[in-house]
Amino acid sequence: MPFETATAVSCANIALIKYWGNRDEKLRLPVNGSISMNLDGLVARTQVTFSQGFDHDSLILNTQAVSGEPLKRVTRFLNLVRDLAGFKQYANIISENNFPTDAGIASSAAAFAALSLAATRAIGLDLSEKQLSLLARRGSGSACRSIPGGFVEWKAGLDESDSYAFSFAPPDYWDLVDCIAVVEANPKLIGSTEGHRLANTSPLQVARIQDTTRRLDLCRHAILSRDFDALATIIELDSNLMHSVMMTSTPPLFYWAPATVELMKAVPLLRKEGLPVCYTVDAGPNVHVLCTSDAADLVIKRLNNFPKVNQVLYAKPGAPTRLV
Ligand code: DP6
Repeated sequence: MPFETATAVSCANIALIKYWGNRDEKLRLPVNGSISMNLDGLVARTQVTFSQGFDHDSLILNTQAVSGEPLKRVTRFLNLVRDLAGFKQYANIISENNFPTDAGIASSAAAFAALSLAATRAIGLDLSEKQLSLLARRGSGSACRSIPGGFVEWKAGLDESDSYAFSFAPPDYWDLVDCIAVVEANPKLIGSTEGHRLANTSPLQVARIQDTTRRLDLCRHAILSRDFDALATIIELDSNLMHSVMMTSTPPLFYWAPATVELMKAVPLLRKEGLPVCYTVDAGPNVHVLCTSDAADLVIKRLNNFPKVNQVLYAKPGAPTRLV
């Protein structure tokens, strides 16, 4: 029986200007553009095998068989790939993240980016980076940003075929490091997909969206000119804006733990002391503390001094999604 297999590796990414809210949920067309950095070394490795011998799709994630809604989400995604290829076979997927699953790093971005490349190759398609990004977006919005490498922008776009991500600076453009302070927290109750649905219930979302072009311009410019202070100002504002929307949604979403707030207050003080350091927080309690690589050892040391910080993960700007 013929088997068609491919394996891909993809980095997670951290949004510096956040995606929060969809204008079309099914197509995952975002209400606003976003900017991110791929996270080197924090990867999903995904193997996809199609075979006539399978009578359903199956998924093994970190050695555990997955069923229910997470498997259905993968099957819906594979249906897009099967439609593109005009191919009917089911797939077996084996995927592993090399970062702790409880670290609260958006694993869906790396997972759907790796799945996009592995599944399309296994099925015999050879898509361009843009086509892969468009496809990955349908699995998880932020996954479209893990397809290209380094510093990446996802355009909100005009329509389905125009909303994709591209790299505007390669990984070695700027020696930034993301030190991820993993804090004590309960498992999160509301995932991003559900959160995006609530975004419009906040009266603050309109103002956040209206101001997006300005924030994107400032962030892109700060990266291209390697201006750390400008980056710090804009990404902390953007993170606080997104969390303001979350906290004023109906029902309200509070992703922060007490330790999150402690760190958000401490990081700007470290910056006042002269350390090039700033924070951003995704839909969870962990704090992504960005700094320049020369400051990383000291920053990691200072973060480890916080009793509620369980561990600090470390990532430089990462490469594009690739076959292995
Ligand atoms: C807060 O891409 O995880 O991390 O499309 O439903 O999978 P789905 O959502 P997802 O949302 C990411 C939200 C965020 C901000 C960001 O990464 O831009």
